[in-house]
Amino acid sequence: MDMIEKAPVTRAFNGYVAAYNASDPKIALKIAHTYRVAGLCERIAASIGADTGLAWLCGMLHDIGRFEQVRRYGTFVDAQSVDHAAFGADLLFVDGLIGSFVPEGFGAARRSILETAIRHHSAYRLPEGLSDEAAMYCHILRDADKIDILRVNCETPLEDIYNVTTEALRTSAVSDAVKACFRRRTTVERSLKRTPADYVVAHVCLVFELVYPLSAAIAREQGYADRLMDFPSENPDTRAWFNEMRQTLWTPRA
Ligand SMILES: [Fe+2]
Repeated sequence: MDMIEKAPVTRAFNGYVAAYNASDPKIALKIAHTYRVAGLCERIAASIGADTGLAWLCGMLHDIGRFEQVRRYGTFVDAQSVDHAAFGADLLFVDGLIGSFVPEGFGAARRSILETAIRHHSAYRLPEGLSDEAAMYCHILRDADKIDILRVNCETPLEDIYNVTTEALRTSAVSDAVKACFRRRTTVERSLKRTPADYVVAHVCLVFELVYPLSAAIAREQGYADRLMDFPSENPDTRAWFNEMRQTLWTPRA
């Protein structure tokens, strides 16, 4: 199988996003996120002996649906617009956009892995019945995405990410169902998140389901989950809860 060449893919990606407004911070954020996720995919793939080129490509194309999503709907909130993962996979593999990123001889097997990884990258759980190989690239991409989502959540004001006022954020409570996820050491299903503070907790919980040892090591070393827990709340219950989280995040489940 041919190696995946980065330069033409990078050129095609830059060409694709040039049609969107890069001075819009939402667009700029997704471009930066894409490159970081692609780099992380490559590192994680190398750590487990997977094809680093294919993993990198999964990262480069995983959020391609974000650009049309924000242009058409003005939001990254999937619940208010479209499932950006499936939307991106459809743009690439139903509408044929993939042809502008990879050469003709790319091959059906890699195409299918790429589609599967992109389509399911933000799902709460992967579908049953994936081949071991497809599941591996799904896990690589999902790990890389989670690691960089932690960074984005530290570097972007939470008010902007969640579209809420500072006051709503600071007085927000944490739902019991979301606390239960943290205590069980699982990620948080979308429907359980009701308050702005729930989203902060849910992001911290991303570290619990990182699949590969290198992913967990990178997440811990980056320190972003710890920084998210510096969340300044004026709500006494929420403050107490974040204290509990700080004390137990890196300890095994009780
Ligand atoms: Fe995504």
